This record gives sequence, C-alpha cells and structure tokens, in this order.
Amino acid sequence: MEATMNLKDKDFVPFKEEQPNSSRVVVYYDPKSNGTGKRPARKEKVKVEKLAFYYGTKQALQNINLDIIANEVTALIGPSGCGKTTYLRIINRMNDLIPGSRIEGKVLIDGEDIYGPEVDVVELRRRVGLVFQQPNPFPKSIYENVAYGPRIHGIRKKSLLDEIVEESLKQAALWDEVKDRFKDSALSLSGGQQQRLCIARVLAVRPEILLMDEPTSALDPVATQRIEDLIRTLASNYTIIIVTHNMQQAARISDTTAFFLLGEMVEQGKTSQIFTRPRDRRTEEYITGRFG
Ligand SMILES: Nc1ncnc2c1ncn2[C@@H]1O[C@H](COP(=O)(O)OP(=O)(O)O)[C@@H](O)[C@H]1O
Ligand SMILES: [Mg+2]
Repeated sequence: MEATMNLKDKDFVPFKEEQPNSSRVVVYYDPKSNGTGKRPARKEKVKVEKLAFYYGTKQALQNINLDIIANEVTALIGPSGCGKTTYLRIINRMNDLIPGSRIEGKVLIDGEDIYGPEVDVVELRRRVGLVFQQPNPFPKSIYENVAYGPRIHGIRKKSLLDEIVEESLKQAALWDEVKDRFKDSALSLSGGQQQRLCIARVLAVRPEILLMDEPTSALDPVATQRIEDLIRTLASNYTIIIVTHNMQQAARISDTTAFFLLGEMVEQGKTSQIFTRPRDRRTEEYITGRFG
C-alpha cells in the first residue's frame, strides 16, 4: 500500500531515554533498559478481551480486543463518537458511575480482572489515573491540588506531603515555574501549566497507568509541545494511553496506535506501521483525512 501522510520511520520516536528535568527528582530505574541496556520483552499491562459496552440500549463498543503494553505510549485515534473515551474510562471504571450502563467481556490489569467482585475501585482509580481534555484543577492552591490525592489516601505528615508535592511537580515538569508560588491559586496558572498541574495531581498518588483524553486539544502549540515531551519522559515509568485527534501528535509520541471506528477497534499496530503501511482501507482513509 502506498505510504500515507508522507511520514517516514525517522519521524517516529526512537524510544529516547530522557533525563528527568531536575536533579532532585527521584530517579527511577528505567524498566525499558532493565539496567542491561537491553530492552526486555514487551509485557501486557492491560488486556481487553471481547469487550462490549452499552449506554442503556445504545451500544458504544463491540468486540474490542486491545492489549496495552507496559511502559509504552498507546495512541487511540478515530473520528468523534467512535468510543475512544468510553474505552479509556472502562480502564479505571469511571463508566460505573453512569446509570444504565453495562459492560461485557474482560478487562485485566496485570492479569487481574478489574471488574471482579473483590476489586477495590478506589485503589483501582489510584493505580489508573485520568487526565481530561480541559485542564480541571480544583479552585485551591497549587500545593493543595497536588497534596489532595495523597491526603485522601491517608497521608497526613506535612514533611511527607511536601516531598510528594515536590516530586510530583518535578515529574510533571512544572516545579521550576511554581516552586515560589505554592500558595497561589491553581486557577492563576496558564492553561498549559494547569494541565501539567493536573498531571502532577495524578502522579502524586503513584499510579501505574495514565489515561489521557485529548490532553492537549485545549492548549496552544508551545504548551502542547511541553506536554508531548512530558508524555515521552513519563513513558519510562508509566503505561500511557492517550486519545488524540492530532495524527502528527500520535505519530510523534506513541509507540503503538489503535484505530477506532463506529465502536470497533479496526486496527492496532506499531505507530510507524499504522501511519505508513495501514492494513485496513478504513485506517488509511482516516489517516489521510478522507473522513473523520
Ligand atoms: N454518558 C453517555 N450516555 C449515552 N451515550 C453516550 C454517553 N457517553 C458517550 N455516549 C455515546 O457513546 C458513543 C461513544 O462515545 P465516546 O466514547 O465519547 O466517543 P469518542 O471519545 O470516540 O468521541 C457516542 O455515540 C456517544 O454519543
Ligand atoms: Mg472522546
């Protein structure tokens, strides 16, 4: 099939191992190199089998089989209304809150059925953090936004909260901009800063998976670039699933891409393959802008 979008392999991220942006950040060992410089086998963090989802009588997803690899960035693309947000919210059971909704099939994280009867949903949502399209900080101080989650999870000690707030802000690449203004309202920050604050707020409860639903669509190009850099850096330590309408963004930051259409997952593959050699005609039509 003819290469599409004029993207070449060099346009795709070479899994660069970036340095944390600050010397005092906790340096995690990089699971991608495993200390040996060699990349270990790709491991599934999330397994989704024969998933279907209904809002009342309306079916939003059907027969989805889509595994998410640990420490990768997986991009979900597809036209509006095809079920990307629904898929994302299934992974941390946010859809449970919608009256009349119903799920079929299996969703496993680290092999455990997250819809099993013994699952602690509060703990699941700590492990699987969600970042929304519109930055949505609480109308509280910058500090309180980040300390909020750890407090809910029972951390009271001021010195420990201070440490977590600092570490989370550093990981979210926001520390340098806010370290002298902790007490300021989060709403005084720019949109891009607010979005990084929301990412810090999620990181503060030490999640394993980050779900991001069009996290840059409300941001300008400079703020978008900062979030994209941040996502690549975070991929060393987290498993990231991002919904994006921006094909270039998916190509720049993701390792794997999955294309959704009308409630189905049409095709999943290495990002470079999806954008240069899609197997399905519908994928090709979408990424070349013929519909959507
Ligand atoms: N709370 C809801 N109640 C009823 N229908 C919904 C709800 N949320 C989404 N839908 C429908 O489910 C389908 C998939 O929506 P969504 O997952 O938001 O798609 P996407 O994120 O790809 O735009 C759409 O037809 C949408 O109208
Ligand atoms: Mg959506």
